[in-house]
Amino acid sequence: MKEPILAPSLLASDHAALGEAAAAVAALGISWLHLDIMDGHFVPNLSFGPETLAALRRHGSKLFFDTHLMLSEPHRYVAAFAKAGADRITIHVEPQINHVATFAAIRSHGCKVGLALNPGTPVEAVEPFLAEVDLVLVMTVQPGFGGQAFRDDTLPKIARVDSWRRERRLDLRIEVDGGIDLATGALCRSKGADTFVAGTSFFRAPDRAAFAAKFAAL
Ligand code: DX5
Ligand code: ZN
Repeated sequence: MKEPILAPSLLASDHAALGEAAAAVAALGISWLHLDIMDGHFVPNLSFGPETLAALRRHGSKLFFDTHLMLSEPHRYVAAFAKAGADRITIHVEPQINHVATFAAIRSHGCKVGLALNPGTPVEAVEPFLAEVDLVLVMTVQPGFGGQAFRDDTLPKIARVDSWRRERRLDLRIEVDGGIDLATGALCRSKGADTFVAGTSFFRAPDRAAFAAKFAAL
């Protein structure tokens, strides 16, 4: 099994102090930062844009920017996010776009590729693309807002992606996002997840270093 990676979600930090939040993540020895990008269309909320990533880079952040595009037309923004400093660009399977061409565009900018699916989307939707991506993001809440309750009806999907990964000997990560804390993270880990987005549970943890250490030992 791959070692667990914790990816704190900047969405849950103080948006007047995004640079400090990213620096605080790095100071704990955490190497990933999850950036939730929303368009008010694919999801009923708005968040950051490419300029946020670019500003974090200008202020010295060297974190791995795990960029989650919750956009109806993600292909239109790949170049902007790549130039702004994204390391991975994850798009959703639900929009009716040319996914394969979008993966190629992401790779042409030197970024890794992720593919996400919503709780209501059958896991079979990602199956044709598994060999083309570096990460599958199984949403464990309906995306759009932080602080929602984890949905345990998503657990069988994690197990299904994990079994495809084994059968086909694929080298991809399985990420979970939404309502993840130590308890729900451990449940997802037991089904094969190895990459854990944590917004509220991380930024509100009384002792973030202890929280991160427990995740590293999941
Ligand atoms: C949900 C986002 C998540 C969100 C998770 O739309 O994709 O990344 O920040 O937040 P928590 O961990 O608070 O559920
Ligand atoms: Zn996310």
